[in-house]
Amino acid sequence: VISSLHHVGIAVEDLEAAVQRYRSVLGLEPSHRERVEDQGVEEVLFDVAGGSVQLLGALGPDTPVGRFLASRGPGLHHIAFGVTDLAGELSRLRDEGARLVDEVPRPGSRNTLIAFLHPHATAGTLVELVQQEG
Ligand code: CO
Repeated sequence: VISSLHHVGIAVEDLEAAVQRYRSVLGLEPSHRERVEDQGVEEVLFDVAGGSVQLLGALGPDTPVGRFLASRGPGLHHIAFGVTDLAGELSRLRDEGARLVDEVPRPGSRNTLIAFLHPHATAGTLVELVQQEG
């Protein structure tokens, strides 16, 4: 069961320049920054009304976001929904035959467990499910 719109992930070419844009154009201040080595990204979060915008910079060209930028350019990368039982959601999705990127939950930033669904399962947009830990 999806309980919230957790965040929207935006791929950017230049993370520092994008952060400055969000500050100056949108008047938002970053709330969190984290380098997630196993996902090949550095992310900066802006909290807005219970959810966040997550700017994603690639740590190199041969990373998921690096390849996304090369093929599609900067812009919407994924949307993330909050769930309370990620393992249960994944087994429900498997039972329904939905195509998954992650078969089992893995660690995300800010003390979360995450899993991605394949865009083919969700009408073309990469979807992430997020379970808050503690
Ligand atoms: Co995300």
